[in-house]
Amino acid sequence: MAIQEEKTKNIIDSVMYSYSTAANIHEEENRILRETVSRLREEVERFKATPLMVCEVRDLIGKNAIIKIPNGNQFLVNISNECEKLRSGDLILVEQKNLTIIKKVPIARRFNVEKFVIVEKPKVSWEEIGGLNHQVREIKEVVELPLKNPELFKKIGISPPKGILLYGEPGTGKTLLAKAVAASTNSTFIEVVGSELVQKFIGEGAKLVKEIFELARRKSPSVVFIDELDALAAKRMEVGTSGEREVNRTFMQLLAEIDGFKPLDNVKIIGATNRKDILDPAIIRPGRLDRLIEIPIPTKEARIEIFKIHTKSMSLDKSVDIAHINGETEGLSGAEIRAICTEAGYFAIRDNRTQVTKSDFLKGIERVRQEEKDSDYKGIFG
Ligand SMILES: Nc1ncnc2c1ncn2[C@@H]1O[C@H](COP(=O)(O)OP(=O)(O)OP(=O)(O)O)[C@@H](O)[C@H]1O
Ligand SMILES: [Mg+2]
Repeated sequence: MAIQEEKTKNIIDSVMYSYSTAANIHEEENRILRETVSRLREEVERFKATPLMVCEVRDLIGKNAIIKIPNGNQFLVNISNECEKLRSGDLILVEQKNLTIIKKVPIARRFNVEKFVIVEKPKVSWEEIGGLNHQVREIKEVVELPLKNPELFKKIGISPPKGILLYGEPGTGKTLLAKAVAASTNSTFIEVVGSELVQKFIGEGAKLVKEIFELARRKSPSVVFIDELDALAAKRMEVGTSGEREVNRTFMQLLAEIDGFKPLDNVKIIGATNRKDILDPAIIRPGRLDRLIEIPIPTKEARIEIFKIHTKSMSLDKSVDIAHINGETEGLSGAEIRAICTEAGYFAIRDNRTQVTKSDFLKGIERVRQEEKDSDYKGIFG
């Protein structure tokens, strides 16, 4: 009996054993199949998923963001909780249907700022500027001296202005002065035009300003010349439209950049404007462009000097008496005097002469005055 029992038990054991091995094998197979299925399912999901769109963050407003999609349209959208902290200018991936920001693209898009601004080493000398002695002296003091001799300022313990503002009528030599001081200090001259900054590079203004100052530091000593500053820094009653917001952002960035560097950082800012009256006082506050230098329409004596400069390499007839010609140019700017000289030269060329006469100059004056009238007319009615 005992033997029989033992036998049965052995048989049961061995049957159980083979069952469990078979079960194990099946379980293993099952697992592999399940994995394959889930892998294939993921793959199918990947094929079905809509692509994310690459956009750019424009602005952050509370928990939302304004983004710019590739066709240029802008939207106010939500940000996914998974998304890391964003800043304006970041590249991001958004869901195509509801434009929710999914994540940030880690690479920062850099553009080559030198493509957008004029960077040069000008060769204008102080001798090429007529009149303006007082203004030249002041610019030498506040821009040239600190760039050439920063030690002096450290010793005495004062900080020179970070920048100056040249204001006055068109064509009176503002750009010329800025170039001359860059040349005399062997500085890199970086020229930006305020109106271009806000019109041509819509949406990029603030970023561009940042990059311009980075470039200026890299290439120091440098002079950052901001022409038509009023386009950027005009007083605003309210910041309403998106265009105004944009200008405002660019302007804020400019103020931040000016505040951000030290007076002796070897970067000087020269702003220029024909409309000092509409400037936002923030830009001319102490510590910013706090030296205001008026560049006036030249006086009689200054005009003579300017004539001398621009006729220096002209071949003049004996009839030419600069003092006399000059009497006819009351109220004209340096740029107009240069135009008169060029026009006079053209009258001689048209006449097949190689010497420029007094009458060429008088005709030149007439022509330039006429052009001035035409442009005034256009200014009022056109
Ligand atoms: N004081 C000056 N002496 C000699 N040349 C001058 C003088 N002022 C102007 N010019 C001539 O006129 C040109 C134009 O001047 P400039 O570009 O400096 O004027 P601006 O004040 O910057 O005018 P805008 O406000 O229109 O920008 C100069 O390149 C120069 O040839
Ligand atoms: Mg100019």
